[in-house]
Amino acid sequence: MLEFLKRKKIKIEKEKMPQHIAIIMDGNGRWAKKRGLPRSAGHRFGAQKLKEIVLFADEIGLKYLTVYAFSTENWKRPKDEVENLMNLLREFFDTEIENLIKKTQIRIKVIGDISKLDKDIQERIISAEGRTKDKRGLCVVIALNYGGRQEIINAVKNLALDIKNGKIDIEDVDEELFKKYLYTYDIPDPDLLIRPSGEMRVSNFLLWQISYTEFWFSNVLWPDFKKEHLLKAIEDYQKRDRRFGGVK
Ligand code: IPE
Ligand code: IPE
Ligand code: MG
Repeated sequence: MLEFLKRKKIKIEKEKMPQHIAIIMDGNGRWAKKRGLPRSAGHRFGAQKLKEIVLFADEIGLKYLTVYAFSTENWKRPKDEVENLMNLLREFFDTEIENLIKKTQIRIKVIGDISKLDKDIQERIISAEGRTKDKRGLCVVIALNYGGRQEIINAVKNLALDIKNGKIDIEDVDEELFKKYLYTYDIPDPDLLIRPSGEMRVSNFLLWQISYTEFWFSNVLWPDFKKEHLLKAIEDYQKRDRRFGGVK
């Protein structure tokens, strides 16, 4: 690892490591197109890349890695692409996640409205979460049928119910209490958000959680994303001056 950093001329300070990195895994389709391959091939390579980056993130001691895998808007894609993505997801849980569960201390958590996914996929998710809930390694948060606005609406509805039932007093509603209603109630906000593929937008990802997150964009397409990109993003992050609205 140290050799690798030296070779790539990347300087990382252990004391300034982000604890939570979020990634919008974008660019699979364009990666495939460039090679004259079907979009599905891009998704397949993208899934392999995810496995590689998860293992590396665990190796470097990251605490949380949240990845955007399927958005609430991705249902708009052609039916066969959606089906292909769902099948890939099944395969990913059956092979890669099984392997991670056997061989590592990684914890799996899924965020998003999974009730809209096929039953067998929901079962895979619940099983992986249940079997890893007490593990203490990297927490991998997979956003599936996730939309930031949907998450906030869902939180508002549940909060409104608790107010209606007299469980919560409206005067007690503040940011800390609201957070408890989000899918990420038990996860700190991301320190760093990485978006490859050249797009410079958030695409409905973690809207509440990224209020003070540092952004890192790159033209590299997700299937071409490498460990050194992650390290470069961390290096750049460590040079940022996070003021959170204050002065220094
Ligand atoms: C990201 O790659 C994967 C998903 C959104 C599921 P894309 O499929 O969006 O790839 P591009 O943006 O078309 O290149
Ligand atoms: C964001 O990528 C969603 C995921 C990576 C899962 P999209 O490709 O769907 O986003 P847009 O359409 O370019 O904003
Ligand atoms: Mg895209």
